[in-house]
Amino acid sequence: MSVDHKILGLLFPSDPSLWKNDINLEEILTDHAYCEMKAAVSCISLIQMNPDKSYLVDCVMPVITEEWGHFRLVVQELKKRNLSLGKQRKDRYVNELINFKQKGGHAADRFLDQLLFMALIEARSCDRFKLLSERMKDPYLKKFYRRFMESEAGHYTLFIELGNHYCGKEKTKKRWLEWLKYEAEIVQKLSPDHNVIH
Ligand SMILES: [Fe+2]
Ligand SMILES: [Fe+2]
Repeated sequence: MSVDHKILGLLFPSDPSLWKNDINLEEILTDHAYCEMKAAVSCISLIQMNPDKSYLVDCVMPVITEEWGHFRLVVQELKKRNLSLGKQRKDRYVNELINFKQKGGHAADRFLDQLLFMALIEARSCDRFKLLSERMKDPYLKKFYRRFMESEAGHYTLFIELGNHYCGKEKTKKRWLEWLKYEAEIVQKLSPDHNVIH
């Protein structure tokens, strides 16, 4: 499966100059590990907040296992290089995205925003993993990042699908387009300094 930002619906491509020169693998692996951890935590909290939505619970449970498995895989790569996990850095991208979430209003709208927020992070990660996979010279790392790219594409699809299921296709699409527009502005604003995974 091959994906790019257009297939994912992203309005602005991830900066191809990212990781162009010296790829700092330690930094990338550390950021990546925390992204996987946060993805697992977000899925857990999505279930905690929506225990009555059994279809959602069924769909999201396996994603928690998968994201935590990703976290372990990335930590394993750090260990192989005699590196420790390292400190979590501030994630400006995610913080900017959080600002777009509806704070008040109807619970149903806030729920949809949470799903689309998660879908967007998955889509952007997927696009960046693709870039990383293309830029890595080591065939092992190429494959390593490609595997993540494919997995995150599946998660992106799931969160959109959950939006369609619970909030209706039309409403989901309308709000998704607003999220895409906002996200494109953030990516443009943060590039090229923003060289983390998410
Ligand atoms: Fe993941
Ligand atoms: Fe994911």
